[in-house]
Amino acid sequence: MMHSSTIFQICFLLQLVLTPLSASTTQRCHPEDQKALLQIKKDLNNPAALSSWQTTTDCCRHWKWVSCDRGKTHRVNSLSLENIDMNPHPLPMPASVSALPYLTILGFGPGNFTGPIPSSIVNLKSLHTLQITSTLLSGTIPEFLSQITTLTDLSLSFNNLSGEIPASLSRLSHLQSLDLQSNSLSGPIPDIFDSFPNFTFVYLSSNQLSGKIPKSMGNINVTYLYLDNNKLEGDASMLFGSKKDTWTINLANNKKLAFDLGKVEFSYELQILNLSHNEIYGNIPEVLTAVRDLVSVDLSYNNLCGKIPTGLSSIAGASAFAHNKCLCGSPLPSCSRRRSF
Ligand SMILES: *[C@@H]1O[C@H](CO)[C@@H](O)[C@H](O)[C@H]1NC(C)=O
Ligand SMILES: *[C@@H]1O[C@H](CO)[C@@H](O)[C@H](O)[C@H]1NC(C)=O
Ligand SMILES: *[C@@H]1O[C@H](CO)[C@@H](O)[C@H](O)[C@H]1NC(C)=O
Ligand SMILES: *[C@@H]1O[C@H](CO)[C@@H](O)[C@H](O)[C@H]1NC(C)=O
Ligand SMILES: *[C@@H]1O[C@H](CO)[C@@H](O)[C@H](O)[C@H]1NC(C)=O
Repeated sequence: MMHSSTIFQICFLLQLVLTPLSASTTQRCHPEDQKALLQIKKDLNNPAALSSWQTTTDCCRHWKWVSCDRGKTHRVNSLSLENIDMNPHPLPMPASVSALPYLTILGFGPGNFTGPIPSSIVNLKSLHTLQITSTLLSGTIPEFLSQITTLTDLSLSFNNLSGEIPASLSRLSHLQSLDLQSNSLSGPIPDIFDSFPNFTFVYLSSNQLSGKIPKSMGNINVTYLYLDNNKLEGDASMLFGSKKDTWTINLANNKKLAFDLGKVEFSYELQILNLSHNEIYGNIPEVLTAVRDLVSVDLSYNNLCGKIPTGLSSIAGASAFAHNKCLCGSPLPSCSRRRSF
């Protein structure tokens, strides 16, 4: 008797043999999309990573990094070119992506793409996610991105972008997430956040952003807010609030953020709070102990003073409170002994 796994293997082999024969009748890939993808492959010098892109197979089912709309159109709606080996040199992002008009998701990287973002992508009228991450991309954030008004998620993280964040991004009124972390962006954060009613993620960490945090940033009901490792200064108290659904606030290592922490109210959803390496003053408010989901706190290297509220020592050790003006109480030495540190 034949073992069932052997039968399975035979069926599988048969399917492999028959698939190319039946491809012509069940072909889903739109000819225009296939043509555009093959042009992209050519523009990238036929990299080994795209060896599955063969005219004998259906681009919707067998081409790596490609997917199609499963509804009526069967048009290519997602292309994410990850880990593309480029020989012998880095190559620009292929402008030919604009010939895939049904794209809703376009991703480049990680990969050694170089040069600017191709301006031809403004022709992608359905694009909602643009992610160009961990590439050699340099230059400024192009103004033409503001013409892709369908965008909901924009990530240009871990590139080598410089210059200021363009205020024209305010035209992207459907934006829900903006990730520009780990570039060389400088200048102030533009006061554009009233433009994004559905904003939930802001990652601007590890740039050279400077100046004051814009007031409009206080009006957004943001879930994740990362502004750490920049050169921001002054007030950041507007970012907090007990009526917001914020899970993470990281303002660490800006050196010059300064506000009275004692006057701040916290989201009851807060899980991570990192304010280390700033000039934040006042005391640590008791209300912080009422935040039940809090798992990580770092208030070190600030100008805080007074007794650490009881309960915080179960979340964070002494290093989270170290190097302040005059904090005391567990996990630091008790307040009565503070003059004898
Ligand atoms: C990018 O270039 C670097 C240095 O030449 C190389 O180590 C890396 O593997 C390349 N990345 C890809 C995805 O080809
Ligand atoms: C990043 O861009 C700067 C100029 O803005 C340049 O000096 C530097 O070499 C670039 N770094 C990489 C890794 O391309
Ligand atoms: C915000 O989200 C709501 C609910 O998902 C949606 O109805 C509305 O159109 C969105 N607004 C914008 C400007 O995207
Ligand atoms: C923030 O969003 C949550 C859920 O999306 C909502 O319950 C809450 O009322 C919002 N808060 C503000 C201040 O808009
Ligand atoms: C807070 O942020 C600083 C600077 O980025 C980092 O060094 C530190 O590890 C963070 N603290 C915690 C508890 O993650």
